[in-house]
Amino acid sequence: MSVKVKGVVARAKGAPVTLETIVVPDPGPGEARVRVQACGVCHTDLHYREGAINDQFPFLLGHEAAGVVESVGPDVQEVSPGDYVILNWRAVCGECRACRRGRPQYCFNTHNAKQKMTLEDGTELTPALGIGAFAELTLVAAGQCTKVDPQAPPEVAGLLGCGVMAGLGAAINTGNVSRGDSVAVIGCGGVGDAAIAGARLAGARKIIAVDIDDRKLAKAKEFGATDVINSRAIDPVEAIQALTEGNGADVVIEAIGRPETYEQAFYARDLAGTVVLVGVPDPSMRIDLPLLDFFGRGGALKSSWYGDCLPSRDFPMLIDLYLQGRLPLQDFVSEKIGIGDVEAAFDKMHKGEVLRSVVMVSG
Ligand code: APR
Ligand code: ZN
Ligand code: ZN
Repeated sequence: MSVKVKGVVARAKGAPVTLETIVVPDPGPGEARVRVQACGVCHTDLHYREGAINDQFPFLLGHEAAGVVESVGPDVQEVSPGDYVILNWRAVCGECRACRRGRPQYCFNTHNAKQKMTLEDGTELTPALGIGAFAELTLVAAGQCTKVDPQAPPEVAGLLGCGVMAGLGAAINTGNVSRGDSVAVIGCGGVGDAAIAGARLAGARKIIAVDIDDRKLAKAKEFGATDVINSRAIDPVEAIQALTEGNGADVVIEAIGRPETYEQAFYARDLAGTVVLVGVPDPSMRIDLPLLDFFGRGGALKSSWYGDCLPSRDFPMLIDLYLQGRLPLQDFVSEKIGIGDVEAAFDKMHKGEVLRSVVMVSG
């Protein structure tokens, strides 16, 4: 039996989101229906609403979520009703050329539920990142459910579903930050702060936070920044070099997605250092740098999609570290809000007032 629940829908480009009745089918083969408990508000949700991702309106928004599996399709083995899970948008196929080479974090064929959730009139919804979790129930591929320790509250666990995982993974997976490294993070929103927390966890000796907002820099210190630079006031490349004996940082993480800050990251790294781009640029952006500088400086220029995470490997591990008090995930939760407050949360996100607003969907 399909079920009708409330969900947050973006009906048209730029229009405020609305709370709608949606129809969630019974899970079919390979699918799971999840009772969402909490779901964070991410920039990507706003980008969907603005038509910046694609034009497959209406969208069912929300994708940083934790909840409990309500029912599963006939052949589903990996999860059962009652399991406490974080939803992920990297349910790996196990068969593509990346998976076969033992690199499932790059899976080129991730999957989602086959059946569609709809509006009451039958209009098919496009779930944000194949999840759609600003809803009391959502339908996903069973592989999108990652079991974690239920002692972690849902508003905290759900964060690993997207932005915080992206930042943590940019440091610990993509950047491969190791004990003793110097790290600089440019842009200290939720993603950048998570990169800082990841660098601390990995044993970085120096973690330099760069932002143009002093409030963000103060928060960055709480997550582990050892030094902060307001790049409105001073040149960040020179300042990072000055803090690293004139060399630059071993790993520089760009967590904004802009050409000018990417250029700062490029020149603020040590010779043979690594730059990680985890901020998402828009399609109009270009960069123009001397090719010789790419060659002459050596090292690695990487991008980090979802923090190069493998949900089944990383989510339970990071939740365990959180439960041990070694990863302050709770500090990313700026406010807990109701399912009707998403539009207001977009506004706060836009003004830079929050790291994460988290919608408490059900107990
Ligand atoms: N120099 C330094 N810091 C900047 C600059 C700049 N030119 N412009 C913006 N910032 C800072 C902001 O002050 C803010 O603290 O970058 C931070 C961006 O944070 P958020 O807007 O909260 O974004 P966040 O959720 O962290 O995501 C960052 O990663 O996943 C992507 O789509 C996401 O591209 C976005 C990026
Ligand atoms: Zn694959
Ligand atoms: Zn997201």
